[in-house]
Amino acid sequence: MTAAESRSALDNRERAVASGTRTHVVCPYLSRAPAGESAALRSPDARREEAVGLARAIVLDVVGAETVSLAAIRPATYLGKGKVESIAAETKADSIDLVVMDCALSPVQQRNLERAFGCKVIDRTGLILEIFGRRARTAEGALQVELAHLAYQKSRLVRSWTHLERQRGGFGFLGGPGETQIETDRRLISERMVRIERELDSIKRTRALHRASRADVPYPIVALVGYTNAGKSTLFNRLTRAEVMAADMLFATLDPTMRLIKLPHGGSAILSDTVGFISDLPTMLISAFRATLEEVRAADAIVHVRDISHADSEAQSQDVETILTELGVADRADRVIEVLNKLDRLDAEARAGLAETQATRNATPLAVSALTGEGIDRLIAAIEERLARGRSLIELTLDPADGQGLHWLYEHAEVMSRSDEHDGLRLTVRVAPDQVERVKRRFAETAGRAG
Ligand code: GTP
Repeated sequence: MTAAESRSALDNRERAVASGTRTHVVCPYLSRAPAGESAALRSPDARREEAVGLARAIVLDVVGAETVSLAAIRPATYLGKGKVESIAAETKADSIDLVVMDCALSPVQQRNLERAFGCKVIDRTGLILEIFGRRARTAEGALQVELAHLAYQKSRLVRSWTHLERQRGGFGFLGGPGETQIETDRRLISERMVRIERELDSIKRTRALHRASRADVPYPIVALVGYTNAGKSTLFNRLTRAEVMAADMLFATLDPTMRLIKLPHGGSAILSDTVGFISDLPTMLISAFRATLEEVRAADAIVHVRDISHADSEAQSQDVETILTELGVADRADRVIEVLNKLDRLDAEARAGLAETQATRNATPLAVSALTGEGIDRLIAAIEERLARGRSLIELTLDPADGQGLHWLYEHAEVMSRSDEHDGLRLTVRVAPDQVERVKRRFAETAGRAG
C-alpha cells in the first residue's frame, strides 16, 4: 500500500466534519469546577459563546446550543441519562448530523453518545484539531497538527473502533494473517507518525537556514498574540493597511501573515500575526499550537491584543501570560505591549475611566479600536519606542553634497532630527546595535555618540 493510499484510507474515516453540517453544541460544565482550574474563572455563558464561535470557525451550521450543569461526570455517557435522552430526541427532531460536546470525552463516552444520539459526536479536542488543521498555514504547522490528529486517532482506536471493525469488515487484505482491523489501523497510523516526524526534522533544518537569511533582513519583528476573536487580524490589517508595496516582494517567501510596517521616524518592522489562543487547550494540542508560535519567542516586541469588551477578558489575559512564560518569553516587561482592543464597544462611563489613564504619557495598557482606528497612532509610537530600546543615537555632520550618504541613512537608520548648519547637515540618527559600527565606518570622520 502506498503512502497516499494509507493516507486516504485514514482520512476518509475521520474527515466526516464537513462545512455546513447541521450541528448542535452541548456545553456540559461541572456546577462546581475544581478550584484552580481556569475554567472556574469563566462564566458558563462566555464558555458556551466561545464553543459556538469555534464551531462556526469551521463553518458548521450551528442550529442550537445548550449549557448543561453537571453535578458529576457519568463514566459511560458523560451526561446523565435523562439529558442523553432529551438530546437524542432533539437531534432527531432537528435532523442534526453532528453534536459538538464542549468537554473531553473518552472514546467509550464518544461511542455511547453517538449510538444514543444517532449521529456523529466530536469533543472539544476533535473540534480544535479541525480548526488548527484548516488554519495551519505553514508546512510545519500542518504537519504538527496532523501529528496531533494521528495521536488523537490512535488513542481512540482502543475500543471506540471495535464497532467500526465489525461494521466495516473491509481492508482485511491489508494486514498479515490474523491481524485485526484495529491493529492494521494502528500500524498505519504509527507508520505515518514516523514519516511525519522525519519530515518535521528536515523542515526544522531548512527553517534554520531560512532564519539565517531572515537575519539579513535588517528589520525587527513585532508579533501579535491574543485570544481568538480579540481582533488580531483586524489590527494587523489596520497597521499594515497603507503598506501594499514593492517591499512586500521581499517577503513573498515568508508566511502571508507577515508584513512590513513603517514607523514614524522612517524605521521599519515586520509585523507577524499568529494563531489565536483558545481557552483550556487540550494538552495533546499544545505542541501543535506552540509550533505556530515559534515566531513569538524570537520577536523583538510582542503586542498582546485583548478584547476589553469580553466578559472573560481577565481570565483570557492570564492564559496568554501563562503560555508566554511557557514559551520562554521571560523578559516580558521589556518586550510585551498590552493593547485593550474594541474600545468602541465600551459605554461612556467605562471609556471615561480609561481615557483618564490613557492621558498619561507611556500609558499601559494602551486602549485602541482596530475597527475605528482610535488609539492606533499611539500604538505605533509605542511599538517604535519599544524597538528603540537598545538602539543608539548617533550625531553626524554630513557634507551637503553627499546625497548618497543621506539616502543610505534614510534607508538604514531612523532620522530623528536634521538641520542645516554652517559646517554641513547635522543629523541625529537612531540605529540598531549591529549597525552602529557600520554607520561609524561609513561616516567615520563625523560620527559621535549623542546619547
Ligand atoms: P482569530 O483569527 O480567530 O484568532 O481572531 P482575531 O483575533 O484575528 O480576530 P478578528 O480580527 O478576526 O476579529 C474578530 C471580530 O471582532 C470580528 O468580527 C471583528 O470585526 C471584530 N473586531 C475586531 N476589532 C474590533 C474593534 O476594535 N471593535 C469592534 N467593535 N469590533 C472589532
